[in-house]
Amino acid sequence: MRIFSGQAHRVLAERIATYLGQMLGDVKIERFPDGEVCVKIVDSVRGQDVFIVQPTCFPPNENLMELLIMIDAARRASAARITAVMPFYGYARQDRKDQPRVPITAKLVANLLVAAGVNRILAMDFHAQQVVGFFDIPVDHLFAAPVIVKHLREMKIPDLVVVAPDPGGLKMAYAYSNKLEAGLAVVAKQRRSATEVEAMNIVGEVANCNCVLVDDLCTTGGTLYAAAELLKKRGAKRILAAVTHAVLTDEAILRLKKSPIETMVTTDSVPPKDWQGFPVEVLSVAELLGEAILRIHNNQSVTSLFNI
Ligand code: R5P
Repeated sequence: MRIFSGQAHRVLAERIATYLGQMLGDVKIERFPDGEVCVKIVDSVRGQDVFIVQPTCFPPNENLMELLIMIDAARRASAARITAVMPFYGYARQDRKDQPRVPITAKLVANLLVAAGVNRILAMDFHAQQVVGFFDIPVDHLFAAPVIVKHLREMKIPDLVVVAPDPGGLKMAYAYSNKLEAGLAVVAKQRRSATEVEAMNIVGEVANCNCVLVDDLCTTGGTLYAAAELLKKRGAKRILAAVTHAVLTDEAILRLKKSPIETMVTTDSVPPKDWQGFPVEVLSVAELLGEAILRIHNNQSVTSLFNI
């Protein structure tokens, strides 16, 4: 088994390798003078089980292209099997044709990965579960919930209600509320533009409750901000957020600081930001991913890793 890292999040890849008692494989990643990606896998991978760790977070195009080229290099170097370890799978928001003349980028990326020569995918909290079905190769789709729920339990928050900031997040919020033995509420949201979100209504009891907004992703912070403001208006006491992938813009951090959200729990699926004083707890998913890699390599079940 060999673990390699692209340049997107080497710290996470190192944590995974440490869990597995390995050093990261040696790979040179450079740019040609015109910006093209130049990859050379230094160590031999002939006949080996190769795992390439690369979340396709910011800058998504660079990171995706680098991953595709690394897969191509490993395939041409006769790796026995290549697994793309994508703690964050970018381009997943566009997962259906809901307007005329729009792409399905989540499927396009799946096609590109397979065309490059990947044999399997290890991912975490896809934006939508159906992305698993965009691949005709094995996909192990992990959840960060076991890590985040454990932390929230340790916080021992009384009168807790788990809130989905939009109806699309209801299934995820339900899983959290179930495991935390908490109430459940959902915000009806309308997205006006990529950065403007309106929270219109809340279904569920939140008055005098402590609320945790759970989501797979936060980018501009618009969704969390609008939901938190509405929760405050409806009498919520403490408001927290738990988000798997904090793919934040600078504007998002300013928004979070202005919002009634007192703290955010997230994971190291993507590199950390400068939180500019906003209180954030970053939990590591390296062990979870490392254990999944070990089990994939040994042809063992990964089902128990879904247990909270
Ligand atoms: C929406 O379906 C997602 O689950 C997130 O709520 C959304 O992508 C967050 O984006 P933003 O932070 O830009 O509102």
